Amino acid sequence: MAKITVAVDGTTYQDEVEPRMLLVQYLREKVGKTGTLIGCDTSNCGACTVLLDGASVKSCSVLAVQADGHEVTTIEGLAGINGELHPVQQAFHDKHALQCGYCTPGMIMRSVCLLNENPHPTEAEIREGLNGNLCRCTGYQNIVAAVQQAADALATAGGAR
Ligand code: FES
Ligand code: FES
Repeated sequence: MAKITVAVDGTTYQDEVEPRMLLVQYLREKVGKTGTLIGCDTSNCGACTVLLDGASVKSCSVLAVQADGHEVTTIEGLAGINGELHPVQQAFHDKHALQCGYCTPGMIMRSVCLLNENPHPTEAEIREGLNGNLCRCTGYQNIVAAVQQAADALATAGGAR
């Protein structure tokens, strides 16, 4: 077993984990962050995407021990302290950018990172930026529209958050 200290959505957790435990398993099974989903377990779908020190990662391709000493943000840590939706969450709602919703937490986390890296992406850059996240309901048109709306909202608000 290995001891780890990880900040998840603003709260610090200290745990003992199996060295082989995946970050997605740690988040779901130890920390209880079940909003982070498992769609494939083989690094293909992106449903498990979280932010690790602000960069999006597929948490099924990261070991929990690799997060030791780092900060993780999940979909459950994205809303404001009073529950107000993050502009990307709001845009997914407004643009009906989900059908079954299974890909949505990962899509949103990847979109947050994308907009942090590139606040004014073209449609092609959005599609390129999301190409590691699969939507089996194939709702890509509305997802792209949501990211465009979020980019506009963040620009109006004075930058990404
Ligand atoms: S569950 Fe991680 S990429 Fe599919
Ligand atoms: S909304 Fe169903 S997988 Fe994307």
